[in-house]
Amino acid sequence: MSAAVDTVAADDRGALFRTASAWADMDAWHRRVAEIRRTAPILRVDDPGYAPFWALTRHADVLAVSRDNTIWHNTPRAVLGPDEDWDRMLASGMPLPATLVHLDGTKHRTHRAVTNDWFKPAAVRHRQPRIEELADLYVERMRALGGRCDFAEDIAKPYTLRVIMDIYGVPEEDEPLMMDLTQGIFGAADPEYLGTAEDPGQRMTAAVMRFVQYFKELTADRRACPADDLATVIATGQVDGAPMGDIEQLWYYIIVATAGHDTTSYALSGGMEQLARDPAALLFPLADDEAAIVNAAEECIRWTSPVRHFMRYATVPASVGGVEIPEGGRVLLSYPSANRDEQVFRDPHVFSPTRADATQQLAFGGGAHFCLGAQFARRELRTMLTRLSRELTHVELAGTPEWSRSHFVSGVKHLPLSYRMR
Ligand code: HEM
Repeated sequence: MSAAVDTVAADDRGALFRTASAWADMDAWHRRVAEIRRTAPILRVDDPGYAPFWALTRHADVLAVSRDNTIWHNTPRAVLGPDEDWDRMLASGMPLPATLVHLDGTKHRTHRAVTNDWFKPAAVRHRQPRIEELADLYVERMRALGGRCDFAEDIAKPYTLRVIMDIYGVPEEDEPLMMDLTQGIFGAADPEYLGTAEDPGQRMTAAVMRFVQYFKELTADRRACPADDLATVIATGQVDGAPMGDIEQLWYYIIVATAGHDTTSYALSGGMEQLARDPAALLFPLADDEAAIVNAAEECIRWTSPVRHFMRYATVPASVGGVEIPEGGRVLLSYPSANRDEQVFRDPHVFSPTRADATQQLAFGGGAHFCLGAQFARRELRTMLTRLSRELTHVELAGTPEWSRSHFVSGVKHLPLSYRMR
């Protein structure tokens, strides 16, 4: 077991869900959480500095709560954090989180409708040629790197960032800014992404405040000169016949700018890590087999589950898997755990691109908040896997993969590979 997960004491199981360092070794994390699934699948966590919550580790419980958006609400505190950070954020004057994942009921539905059409299968299909162009560009970059790369940093990250920024309409020169915003929101607990901030809460607040002005200018620009991009849809979006509120609009930009690339990039780098461990058996057989690619992409998503959790709050007294949760009680939906549930997945700890149950994976959540960008993520993965399975003739790990440290969104951040291409 790794040193990082070792620091989580046997009687401190809640730390597995809230401590960033616990996510630095996923094999060890999964071993510990499999034990929790067996012995206390709805784990009550009452740790100092955190209001109590129940961690849901089974597939059935995560799915049931995700689908019931009447009893279970997201609220502005949809992500777990220390109570102190929350209080400090409120005091800082930062606008309360109000992205789609923080809204509920009618407000959520009407705001989601603003961009929904852009994420429907037909609309995403329309973007396929562009996704292919960008995948080709990054495969050529891999070739140019001459047989050795950090696949996560050199390929997966910039490729997935470019695809989303392309539909967004953000120019390439602003991509480093967008990366900074994402790392401030998703990865602030990792020392590599903390920058000069004193703690993750401060890093996140600074990242958001920095973007208030950026998105204000973007709105003014798109209102003056509309373009065929998502930024224009958000800038001109109407809710109930009136322009969206400034705060909702700011957060809308932020979620679309951030939700789509770290997540997809971790699914790709974590999937590639596994494929490179035995390419002859796992990667090369995918070449020119469309159905196999579709399934393999799903398995990469199940295996990596890059979004580590979201919270839900009971609006009335509720029951989950036989456990009573009082009104106002909160639960943590553990997607990585649900995706290794022995009740649903055969040999859940084996990475298998051909597994028949891969489509049962819950990494995109469920119910009203089901990931808006799922079709994009799937296409990005499939398109890149198609090329890699065709173009690579040899690939192996050239060092130890490194995971980012975040209890919210994390995955393989460094993946040294050596390879040969056709
Ligand atoms: C493998 C990649 C991805 C994973 C694992 C992932 C996962 C998730 C999860 C777990 C949720 C919350 C679902 C729930 O609460 O039930 C979510 C919501 C969301 N995702 Fe993704 N996502 C990915 C890629 C993307 C992409 C490419 C975009 C495109 C911009 C995107 C945009 C969003 C948005 C806007 C929401 C909020 C939806 C709502 O609350 O109504 N995601 N995603």
